[in-house]
Amino acid sequence: MQINFSELAMPNTGCCVIFVNKDLEFNGLAASVNQQMNSDLKTIFETAKFSGGKGATLEILAPNGLNFDRLLVVGLGDKDLNDQDNVELGASVVAKMLHSGSSEVFVAADFIEANATLIAEGALLRSYRFDKYRTKEPDSKKPSLKNITILTNDAETVSDKFAERSKVVDGVFFTRDLVSEPGNVLYPESFADRIRELSDLGVEVDVLGEAEMEKLGMGSLLCVGIGSDRESQLAVMRWNGGNEGDAPIAFIGKGVTFDTGGISLKPGPGMEQMKWDMGGAGTVVGLMKALAGRKAKANIVAVVGLVENMPSGGATRPGDVVTSMSGQTIEVLNTDAEGRLVLADALWYCQETYKPKFMIDLATLTGAMIISLGHEYAGIFSDSDELSSQLYDAGIETGDKVWRLPIHENYDKLINCDVADMKNIGGRGAGSITAAQFLKRFTNDVPWVHIDIAGTVWSEKDLPMSEKGGTGHGVRLLDRFVADNYEG
Ligand code: BES
Ligand code: MN
Ligand code: ZN
Repeated sequence: MQINFSELAMPNTGCCVIFVNKDLEFNGLAASVNQQMNSDLKTIFETAKFSGGKGATLEILAPNGLNFDRLLVVGLGDKDLNDQDNVELGASVVAKMLHSGSSEVFVAADFIEANATLIAEGALLRSYRFDKYRTKEPDSKKPSLKNITILTNDAETVSDKFAERSKVVDGVFFTRDLVSEPGNVLYPESFADRIRELSDLGVEVDVLGEAEMEKLGMGSLLCVGIGSDRESQLAVMRWNGGNEGDAPIAFIGKGVTFDTGGISLKPGPGMEQMKWDMGGAGTVVGLMKALAGRKAKANIVAVVGLVENMPSGGATRPGDVVTSMSGQTIEVLNTDAEGRLVLADALWYCQETYKPKFMIDLATLTGAMIISLGHEYAGIFSDSDELSSQLYDAGIETGDKVWRLPIHENYDKLINCDVADMKNIGGRGAGSITAAQFLKRFTNDVPWVHIDIAGTVWSEKDLPMSEKGGTGHGVRLLDRFVADNYEG
């Protein structure tokens, strides 16, 4: 689907979208549509019980007196709209029209020009589809919508502003692509190849293999991939858009390209979902694409640990003890608690090598996260009130919502161990928190936030901004977090 921008004119084909507020008032082009129509829109609204509520839509086919073939009226509600509300308006137009039969949609954004860019961003976000493996899908099942034209009084300015936003959407799409790929296609080395593509945007990419990681002493990360035929990788990305010499901001991602659980094997039903256990890394990589694409004025470093967790004759056993790069030893009591083992060495390596201002890690770390917050909010765990509130605010403006959960020394004690410095699981309770406490032991007291995205990476149902499947949740969140707090 293409997004275009054009000066204001009455469309004479396709679908025309107009916005109406809670008082059912029209402005600009919408008012002209209302005038030219041979039937009274207000009567139609009454018949359809359409009250102009936020995001409500009403479709009118073959409107009498007009040349286009359908009219879509979208409600604005009666409250001030924030950025995300506007993005969702654009997304709702696409959700409604994608399979409607119309191929051309014209959106009258004249009286909400300031928000036209956001509406376009939402429209583009909602148009994503991962259909590369559907070779026999009939045309009738494919989206009919081909072009969205945003009509404004200043198409050039809006189009320029959108050019930057579309780079962020590119990042979201990259993340969705990565989490959608099956484990036989996306494994540590092929994932690293996808990351190398970012060098076209000016991102410096380095990839370490198993031999280099062994030299660094990454026994924790390596023990996860040891049962797999695929070689583990650690990929580092750097974007230097800020002042030379300024300490970077760091993002770290869990990239388990498939999580069988290892010897602590997961149950069969639903195991296919564990192809998106690389969602943390996928989000970090999409974020780097967004930041580099729009040339963010900040120094960023990203580290992702890429491994496959498989059972085999060489796999790590429950009870094995490994030594992490930090020197701390870990008793692996459950090989299915592998994400924290990967992040332990990735976090330590990151702070030691790049001396970042702070670190933010993302991971599909615990099933317990879905029990506590479901699929609405991602959980954040942090020792920094400032970073937590900056992330919360960015969540409100992007719809990638986050909610803070506690960490505390008493939770930390739950991973103490008689055999080694720590064990890789806590008790029955507070599973997401004890996982976070484990990570904290590898931050070396650098300010840090852990975001557990187990519930938000993937959706089994259509959402406002995405079809069911990979959501890209976190890319726009962190792009906004950087833009609002760490640029210029
Ligand atoms: N990748 C899983 C967490 C997960 C489960 C994410 C379901 C999304 C959906 C993680 O590696 C895992 O298996 N965690 C275990 C930890 C437990 C053994 C302490 C879990 O949550 O059950
Ligand atoms: Mn696991
Ligand atoms: Zn996992």
